[in-house]
Amino acid sequence: MDKRQINRQELTNIADTLVAGDKGLLAMDESNATCNKRFAVLNIPQTEVSRRDWRELIITTPNLCECISGTILYDETIRQKKRDGSFIIKTIMDAGMIPGIKVDTGAKAMAGFPGEKLTGGLDGLRERLKEYVTMGARFAKWRSVIAIGEGIPSRACMEANAHALACYAALCQEAGLVPMVEPELLMTGDHTLEKCYERTEEVLRTVFNVLYLHRVMLEGMILKPNMVISGLGCSKQATVEEVADATIKCLLQAVPAAVAGVAFLSGGQSGSLASAHLNAMHVRRPSQFPWPLTFSFARAIQQPAMEIWQGKDANITEAQQALLHRAQCDRAARRGEYSEVMGKACV
Ligand code: G3H
Repeated sequence: MDKRQINRQELTNIADTLVAGDKGLLAMDESNATCNKRFAVLNIPQTEVSRRDWRELIITTPNLCECISGTILYDETIRQKKRDGSFIIKTIMDAGMIPGIKVDTGAKAMAGFPGEKLTGGLDGLRERLKEYVTMGARFAKWRSVIAIGEGIPSRACMEANAHALACYAALCQEAGLVPMVEPELLMTGDHTLEKCYERTEEVLRTVFNVLYLHRVMLEGMILKPNMVISGLGCSKQATVEEVADATIKCLLQAVPAAVAGVAFLSGGQSGSLASAHLNAMHVRRPSQFPWPLTFSFARAIQQPAMEIWQGKDANITEAQQALLHRAQCDRAARRGEYSEVMGKACV
């Protein structure tokens, strides 16, 4: 076997492991600015030490690996040590979870397109990826941020973001990292479920066209999409069943069967709603999906725990229980066994 074939096999193995069984992923890759913003709301000090303590709390949660196959880290975290001096990434690997890394440098206003954003981070990416592989990362994430509104997203925004995603994904696979491709259509706005469906389908089709152009191996990548959902300001909020049906239909239209897995972002949904939506997809599936369908949530897993923690050591155990509970709910949702009663059991 030549090196390229070995690389393909390794990528496929990592991707398959990340989405195997009934587990999902935990995103803990908020940039310092985003993490600080969430801390500020809860009066938690916005310091490197607090961010370290929070991430240490998450990854030392007992039995987390029963629900979580992989965690996505931020650059600061992958270099950080726990209070006892050992690396955070080592604890993740020792627990049997696969470490990943966010490698984009954020979404910035797109010149000439008011209200739209383009994600950056391609400059120097090849070198950064090499370093992350040496540190132990096995997959990487890049997030495009796409707003829905009057006349947007524009074709230019969709195509520019798709090109960036494809360049990043190809570089990841060259480096031996599984790309997690995240084209996120935001929930903010007053758009209907139908409009979210149309725009999500168009974005996904655009992304997969460009991934094909850039020779990205679909078996060695994971898609991290939004669910098809009504905008937060829409007067008619879709039911859980409508969201599940629309999301499945949209993915079946636009996502090639060869993709290793689909792992949803939560996008600002509450933990219980995100679990209910994922659960409904598994309960109502028209037939077997062509790909494993799982979760890669950040807020929907972390938020209740962070509210309990409040930056205080005395609250660590209770916060870890809340974190594990949300992860267990999502794992149950993946099996189609989540219920509202379970969601309320602990938090
Ligand atoms: O990029 C966003 C995260 O990976 C997912 O975060 O579940 O809070 O939307 P979220």
